[in-house]
Amino acid sequence: MIRAVYPGTFDPMTNGHLDILTRAADLFDEIIVAVADDNNKQTLFTPAERLALIEEEVNGQPKIKVMTFCGLTVEFARRQGARTLIRGLRAMSDYEYELQLAMMNKKFAPEIETIFLMAQVKYSFVSSSAIKWASRLEGRIEDFVPAGVERALREKYRLQAPR
Ligand code: COA
Repeated sequence: MIRAVYPGTFDPMTNGHLDILTRAADLFDEIIVAVADDNNKQTLFTPAERLALIEEEVNGQPKIKVMTFCGLTVEFARRQGARTLIRGLRAMSDYEYELQLAMMNKKFAPEIETIFLMAQVKYSFVSSSAIKWASRLEGRIEDFVPAGVERALREKYRLQAPR
């Protein structure tokens, strides 16, 4: 069985992430979506909430598992018996960050390869931050995120709004 890990913050998952995940699932026997608990980003959703939102979308797809993890991504991949990391690339602007991440990961775990899938053009400008920003300002985001994520964002910002 060839297993790959698709790591990210997923705060929250977008249709762009979902597209990369679906395409990766066609290439591997199993994909573990790895929701990072501990990185440099201040998140809107807790790790458990981010995991639940992804699970709601992939529910019933036997090739896809969703887990949270702490610590280095490559150590998580090793523990899961995976030798491939999947990342999506949207534009040249992603390249430098992804190159640095891939090189650091290669240094820590030479046996693990990072494979990049190009985002579809229709998702090339979608990011979790832009979605959160638009949602907070009550913009329409239904083309960019699954319905469950849209609902969760609406609920989060409703609770945060001054009463
Ligand atoms: N479609 C839509 N959006 C996409 C996308 C796609 N195909 N690909 C990337 N993005 C966007 C996301 O929306 C997100 O936007 P944001 O910055 O506005 O939030 C951004 O690109 C990347 O987010 P995400 O895909 O969730 O990943 P990340 O870059 O936050 O995740 C980890 C990085 C978790 C892989 C990395 O921090 C990590 O490995 N952390 C664990 C610790 C570790 O091992 N560090 C490395 C040691 S040097």
